[in-house]
Amino acid sequence: MKTTKKADPTIIVIFGGTGDLAKRKLVPAFYNLFLDGWMPSKFAIIGLGRTELDDEAYKKRLFDGLVEFSRNGKPEKESWEKFNPAISYFQSNINDQGSYEDLAKKMDQIDQEWGVRANRLFYLSVAPRFIESVTTNLSVSGLACDDLKDRIIIEKPFGTNKETAIELNDMLRRTFKEEQIYRIDHYLGKETVQNILAFRFANALFEPLWNRNYIDYVQITVAEQVGVEDRGGYYEGSGALRDMIQNHLLQILCMVAMEAPISFEAEEIRNRKADVLRAVRRINPEEVHKFAVRGQYGPGWVEGKKVPGYREENGVDPKSGTETYAAIKFYLDNWRWQGVPFYLRTGKRMPVKTSSVTIQFRPVPHSTFSKEQGDSVMPNRLTINLQPQMDIRLRFTVKQHGLEMNLNQADMIYDYDACSTQTPEAYETLLLDAMRGDPTLFMRSDQVEEAWDVISSILEVWEKRPSLDFPNYAAGAWGPENAEALIAKDGHVWATSLQKD
Ligand code: BG6
Repeated sequence: MKTTKKADPTIIVIFGGTGDLAKRKLVPAFYNLFLDGWMPSKFAIIGLGRTELDDEAYKKRLFDGLVEFSRNGKPEKESWEKFNPAISYFQSNINDQGSYEDLAKKMDQIDQEWGVRANRLFYLSVAPRFIESVTTNLSVSGLACDDLKDRIIIEKPFGTNKETAIELNDMLRRTFKEEQIYRIDHYLGKETVQNILAFRFANALFEPLWNRNYIDYVQITVAEQVGVEDRGGYYEGSGALRDMIQNHLLQILCMVAMEAPISFEAEEIRNRKADVLRAVRRINPEEVHKFAVRGQYGPGWVEGKKVPGYREENGVDPKSGTETYAAIKFYLDNWRWQGVPFYLRTGKRMPVKTSSVTIQFRPVPHSTFSKEQGDSVMPNRLTINLQPQMDIRLRFTVKQHGLEMNLNQADMIYDYDACSTQTPEAYETLLLDAMRGDPTLFMRSDQVEEAWDVISSILEVWEKRPSLDFPNYAAGAWGPENAEALIAKDGHVWATSLQKD
């Protein structure tokens, strides 16, 4: 459960300390937590890497990262001077047990200086093939032997299918208890995603309507404008289904569809989310084509700039069959959601970056007003804009100003930017929670396995039957035509975040 308590003294060890994530996200998050007074009274950040570097050179890298990526911009001299003594670099070979023994000495020394056995947070920002070696070495060297104080954070990809996720979970549990394992999905740390819980369960107004009787369908869109950038090598073995749907979009689905938890306790919330994933109707392999559409971008134009197709990107096979777009229709077999379609879509190289949840309410049972009086037939819609636009907007019908009884649409808007100029980054929330030992916003093993199970048949069918029409959308378009057909068959259209349709 969330508390306002600061964490106990903590030593943070980043495996992959010279990598991109540490520089772009992790250290800026720790630094901003520090500025806002959330870091423990005593903390140390040890970056691990193979590269030969001294502490000063390592700090310089991180400082440059802060200048470029911190939401607070270039650090002020005084704050940086207070923060940076906590950082050190530890050159090591991830597979060499000797390195872990040296690390243990270093950590023991810090404990002695502080006069306390500090909490230990091991962040694995490494390729999946190194996870086994790191966890085994942590175990053998006794570095993470305190069940209550020592935690490990694992980045995605968490397996590549259900079987590998189970193997990974089994392997992790040989060293750590489930309570020590923090599987991170940064979407769960986003302010707007967390707010779905507040919106649903701290208001009496919406809950009575939040079901099949009033909701016609739900859409979840995560559209990215970027292509695969320099991650072709990783993405080739992943694709949109594994990279985005299995984790981020299904987690959002859980937040939207879960039953009301009895309390804001981690296990309670995670149980309710796991229930949603269990309720998602599994798609029969023979019917995958009716429920799921894949796409791959070809060359095109984004914001007036010509951009290459996926197959021309670095590290990508020129005949690649990897999908950069996926749209899926799910049903949930439970009382609340029976018969309500949930349309999920995500893609790279879309015209704009936008993520949103659309809750489409049913039309009024009888139209009192005539067509001539305006848009009387438009049903209510609630849009939760997750990013980059952050707001919640409820569209409803009003009388147009004037002497005649004509109708129009209006939006009631909660705008985050109007309420606060500073929104914490997802990693700030999640790292603070991990330091405080609060796993609410992290994924439990059963959730991860269930999420893989939900998409298993689609993965298998897509792997077995390569798509013949790739590339099937131009960069800068809203995905392939089939994706329009997927939803049009049911008489709907994809919503844009601006609710133009
Ligand atoms: C990551 C995916 O998990 O999420 C990336 O691997 C994707 O492919 C990214 O670009 C999107 O995150 P955000 O926070 O920018 O929406």
